[in-house]
Amino acid sequence: MSVAASNIDAYWMPFTANRDFKANPRVISGASGHHYTTENGTKLYDMFSGLWTSGLGHCHPKIVAAVQKQVAELDYCMTFQVTNNKAIELAGRVTEMAPEGINHCFFTNSGSESVDTALKIALACHRARGEGNRTRLIGRERGYHGVNFGGMSVGGIAPNRKAFSANLIPGVDHIRQTHDIERNAFSRGLPKHGAELAEDLVRLCGLHDSSNIAAVIVEPVAGSTGVLPPPVGYLERLREICDQHGILLIFDEVITAFGRLGRPFGAHRFGVTPDIIITAKGLTNGVIPMGAVLVRDSVYDAFMHGPENMIELFHGYTYSGHPVAAAAGIATMDVYEEEGTFEQAASLEQGFEDLLHSFADHKHVIDVRNYGLMGAIEMAPRDGAPGARGTETHKKCFWDENLVVRNGMDTLQFSPFLNSKPDEMEQSFAAIRRVLDSIE
Ligand SMILES: Cc1ncc(COP(=O)(O)O)c(C=O)c1O
Repeated sequence: MSVAASNIDAYWMPFTANRDFKANPRVISGASGHHYTTENGTKLYDMFSGLWTSGLGHCHPKIVAAVQKQVAELDYCMTFQVTNNKAIELAGRVTEMAPEGINHCFFTNSGSESVDTALKIALACHRARGEGNRTRLIGRERGYHGVNFGGMSVGGIAPNRKAFSANLIPGVDHIRQTHDIERNAFSRGLPKHGAELAEDLVRLCGLHDSSNIAAVIVEPVAGSTGVLPPPVGYLERLREICDQHGILLIFDEVITAFGRLGRPFGAHRFGVTPDIIITAKGLTNGVIPMGAVLVRDSVYDAFMHGPENMIELFHGYTYSGHPVAAAAGIATMDVYEEEGTFEQAASLEQGFEDLLHSFADHKHVIDVRNYGLMGAIEMAPRDGAPGARGTETHKKCFWDENLVVRNGMDTLQFSPFLNSKPDEMEQSFAAIRRVLDSIE
């Protein structure tokens, strides 16, 4: 028995059915490029590029080398009142890539920490501007903003909130979600119908009085809930309403930043600039945990008043701007530029869309959705067993087809590598079709 197998019971797995998993564990011990390997040497193709994290492929040599060099040069350095050269450099690189006017960057260690940091910045920003009454935060149904208390509260995924219902942070409300399978099923790209759902924010401005609202947080394309691209015109309208009412607009780009939509940020792709952008994942290609919150000058400047010897924002993590993570981030930005990754991702979109939509007439499939290199195939749930068909597909792909495919209940989610090879994508979807044909 391998060391991993003999310790499996000690390990409480995140977002996993532990008992079911431990009966037949799916354990990875190596990776290179577009493939994982298991302890017995089986090679699997990764159709989720990590967990939306590793768009450049696994163990990219340039990022590996940068991390190895950095860990031997400066392993750690606090970033409270002292800092390190790599954190500063990465802040410059990321803000240079960000939409115009977004020139400041606060580091965290994950998407969830970035979300809670962004919410705190929004609240403290209004207070610093003398609008301390703006305390209400608005999320969206079906939104995923990580698992910390702030993110969970503005998030809108019912099972994530259920056990903590009485402990969610106060002063939060939600606009309606945008998924409308009756009007928009099998949309290629942005769905046509639903821009009017942005008016839900106007309704909440009336209900709570907009002078009490601090910020609205949305994913430009909702990811973890099953890939929900926004209706045409929806994000533009949210921006307008926020401008009219002095509300900060936060884009949670943990998934959509760094090429997933064929541009540096989703904000570029949609032509809508928020006040705050949340990132993580692709910031370091998933190699070292790191997140970053990027803010407009007007947000940062709101804090830069008062005595200069005083801390402006009482917030930060021991590992904010960790030098090894920052070195991974700098190398990642280098590779994105040197390899033309975002342009390559954009060039793969059409082929990806066609492969996904070739499932439209499959007997199990009730919707197919895609935008950029994000895609989903939604299957009908089995009677009395929601999620079973999706989980069976995931397991069969793993064991029978050497393919890692993610399912959220009965929706298969796809996050291909930004530098995928078209023939690998074709073979992977052919394998998925074999699996779907073989299950009930
Ligand atoms: C949009 C979004 N926000 C936040 C998070 C949370 O990130 P993490 O798991 O790194 O805390 C995720 C994770 O998938 C995400 O997709």
